[in-house]
Amino acid sequence: MSFKRKSTSSSGPPSKYSIALADSDDSESEDDVKVEIKAKPIAGEGKGTKLTAIQQAHKEKLSGSRFRVLNEELYTTTSEESWERFQSDPSLFSDYHTGFREQAKTWQEGSGNPVHWILEAIRSSSGSAGGGGKIEVADFGCGDATIARTLCPGLFGAGGEDGKKKKKKKKKKKNDNPTQPQTFLVHSLDLVSPPPPSPLSSIIRACNISSVPFLPTESVDINVYSLALMGTDVFNILKEGSRVLKIGGRLLIAEVRSRFGTGNESLLPRFKGMLEVLGFRVVNGDKRKNNKFFIFMELAKEIGWDEVEEIKESDVVGEGPFLKPCIYKRR
Ligand SMILES: C[S@@+](CC[C@H](N)C(=O)[O-])C[C@H]1O[C@@H](n2cnc3c(N)ncnc32)[C@H](O)[C@@H]1O
Repeated sequence: MSFKRKSTSSSGPPSKYSIALADSDDSESEDDVKVEIKAKPIAGEGKGTKLTAIQQAHKEKLSGSRFRVLNEELYTTTSEESWERFQSDPSLFSDYHTGFREQAKTWQEGSGNPVHWILEAIRSSSGSAGGGGKIEVADFGCGDATIARTLCPGLFGAGGEDGKKKKKKKKKKKNDNPTQPQTFLVHSLDLVSPPPPSPLSSIIRACNISSVPFLPTESVDINVYSLALMGTDVFNILKEGSRVLKIGGRLLIAEVRSRFGTGNESLLPRFKGMLEVLGFRVVNGDKRKNNKFFIFMELAKEIGWDEVEEIKESDVVGEGPFLKPCIYKRR
C-alpha cells in the first residue's frame, strides 16, 4: 500500500492524511460501498475543547504522522512484538485509531469500507445457522468494534451510556423492529481494551490474536479479519483462527489488495495455499473483484483441528512472505 497525501473531490470531510491504497485513480467501481455503517456510536466521541484552525491543523499533522509510524510498525513486526509494545503503552491504541478513523472516512467516500462487506456477509450467513442459538463471531483485530456495535446494539447495556441518551435510543430501537431478536455473540479482540469510562472497555478483549486461549477449540461460527493480518507471522495468526473455528464455519478476510502484489509476483497463490493447509476451502477468492483497493475472500473450514494442529509453516508450498507490509512512500 502506498501512502501519500491526496486531495479529495468528495463533498465529505477532507482528510489530512488520506491514503492511496493502490496505484490507481479514485474512480468508483460498481462494488464501491457508500452505505453508512450504523454502528452504535461510542459515547463521548468528538467532545472536547474547541481548537483554533491552526491548532487543529497542527494536531492533525502530528496525529497523521504518529499513525503512519505505528501502522508501519504493526506491519513489520511479529504479532507478539506488537502485543508487548501496545501492552507497555496502551495509549498507542487511541493514537493509532484516531489516524485509522480519518483514513477510513476516505474509504467510505471512494472505495468502500470492508467492514460493510463483512457485515453483509455475516448477516447473509446468519440464516444458515441451525438450532436458533446465537451465531458466534470472532472479530480479530476489531479496532473500535464496529462489527459488535452494529450486530449487538444492546451491548452497551445498563450503565454504559448516560441515562437520557439511553432511554431515547432504546425507544427508537423498539419502534424500528419490535420483534428482531439479538442473534449474535461477537468476540471483539484487539491489542488493547480501552479503559473505562470508554464503553468499549466492556466490549474489546485485549489479546494477541495469534493466541486466544480463552476461545475454546472449534467454538466460533464466523472468523473475521478485517485489515487485521498485520503482524509478520500471518501463518500463526491464521492457524489460531483455524483452531477456534467450527468445522463448517466461515472465514472472512478483507485485506489491502496491493499487499498481494500482482502478475508473476502475486502472493495470492501462496496465501491461498497456506489457507488450504490450515483446513480452509476457498468459497470465493475475490468477492469484490472490481474493487481496486481491497480484496475480500470467503472460506469455509473443512478440516478439524486434530488434523491441522501439527501443520507447520514449512508445510506450505513456496517460500517467503504471505503478504507484503503496507509501507508508505517517503516524501
Ligand atoms: C487496520 S486496523 C482494522 C480495524 C478493524 N478490523 C476495521 O476493519 O475497521 C487493524 C487492527 O488490528 C489490530 N491488531 C494488529 N495486530 C494485532 C495483534 N497481534 N493482536 C490483536 N490485534 C491486532 C490493530 O490494533 C488494529 O486495531
